[in-house]
Amino acid sequence: MDSYKLLITGGIPLMGETYVSGGKNTSVAVIPATLLSDDPCTIENLPDIEDVRVLVDILRGLGAKVEYDPRARRMTVDPRKVTAFHVPYKQSQRMRASYYLLGALLGRCGQAEVGYPGGCTIGNRPVDQHLKAFRALGAEVEDRGAMLSAKGKMVGAGVFFDKITVGGTINAMLAAAKAEGNTILYNAAKEPHIVDLANFLNSMGAKVKGAGTDTIRITGKAHLHGSTYTVIPDQIETGTLMIAAAATRGDVLIRGCIPTHMEALSAKLLEMGVQVSDMDDAIRVRTVRGHRAVNIKTQEYPGFPTDLQQPMSALLTMANGDSIVIETIFESRFKHLNEMQRMGARVRILDQTAIIEGVSELYGAPVTATDLRAGAALVVAGLMAKGTTEIYEPGFIERGYEHIEEKLRSLGADIRREPV
Ligand code: UD1
Repeated sequence: MDSYKLLITGGIPLMGETYVSGGKNTSVAVIPATLLSDDPCTIENLPDIEDVRVLVDILRGLGAKVEYDPRARRMTVDPRKVTAFHVPYKQSQRMRASYYLLGALLGRCGQAEVGYPGGCTIGNRPVDQHLKAFRALGAEVEDRGAMLSAKGKMVGAGVFFDKITVGGTINAMLAAAKAEGNTILYNAAKEPHIVDLANFLNSMGAKVKGAGTDTIRITGKAHLHGSTYTVIPDQIETGTLMIAAAATRGDVLIRGCIPTHMEALSAKLLEMGVQVSDMDDAIRVRTVRGHRAVNIKTQEYPGFPTDLQQPMSALLTMANGDSIVIETIFESRFKHLNEMQRMGARVRILDQTAIIEGVSELYGAPVTATDLRAGAALVVAGLMAKGTTEIYEPGFIERGYEHIEEKLRSLGADIRREPV
């Protein structure tokens, strides 16, 4: 249980400028990828979040020399002394993306033993597609319950994913980058961080083509060299800030983002009557009138991201009219709406569909964050509500949002911590 709670007194329009940090989901893929290099690599623009700190511990545990400066947002990883291939269960449970150590260690050592990944409980999160890709590339894979192990010389092959998976695509790219021969990934995920990982691998001398489409071709290279690489801004943080600006009927300029990554969200906000203006690397979000209710169905990129469904459905609880939200990616991603019923939200949940009847007021109440994006959704709810909302277990939010309290405070929000 976290030793503090977040207190938010809502009803204040967010005003001013803020910036987006480096991407969480790209950082947690690029950092393990440094293990594939023969030389040190430097990664820049890393967000100062818990998942990055966990990866520092894991890499050091494997024998890598890691210099990490969170203020400078920079990490240098020297993997030359890494011969270990075992990531203990206790460490891997601290985050979801620890499973990328499987692909990265297979690529480096031809062998990997990684504890089952932890992370957010947003439904059943199988890894069968990751394991299928490793097997196709020649690994012998064992799922021992708490530990996953894979061993074998990686040889290029065709992998057809039965289901579009971000993690499975990334893991297959990591395992294939140094494989002998050519790999083709069919039905691959297309998220921006897949393109970012491909760009990083290519900057190390890898040959990855087609990232961002559903077919990725990788020509394995026996040696990859060191590189200095800057990760892309966080798509989900950008979206959360856009939703928070709209939710408070504010006027916020979000700098340092990539507007083209935000098209699904921007289109929905425009449909709601929110004003969204794109610049080269900034987005301005303003609300002048009430919000219209809209329907949402989550999909793989470039569809509406499941990670923004939670903050977005929080926003919809105060729209004019009824909204239908269909969550197609994960089974249990409406827990924030259950919590928000205590704040006055009117919601009916039927399996993976939420029917939201917009209300004119929400009221501050004690609520509990159950996962990262549910936490972000409750922050949005707190910013909209009358009175003070107490968010318990806010540690989830720190796993993925850099300095969220400071950023919101600089826009005028009344958000603070209190010991529990
Ligand atoms: C990644 C993101 C997460 C986001 C999700 C969907 C990271 C670190 N996390 O998670 O923030 O919510 O993509 O955009 O990038 N599946 C299988 N078998 C597998 C793998 C996945 O059935 O082997 C299923 C999952 O249960 C889920 C769907 O495929 O229903 C998509 O999952 P996936 O894209 O793999 O999500 P993650 O990589 O875990």
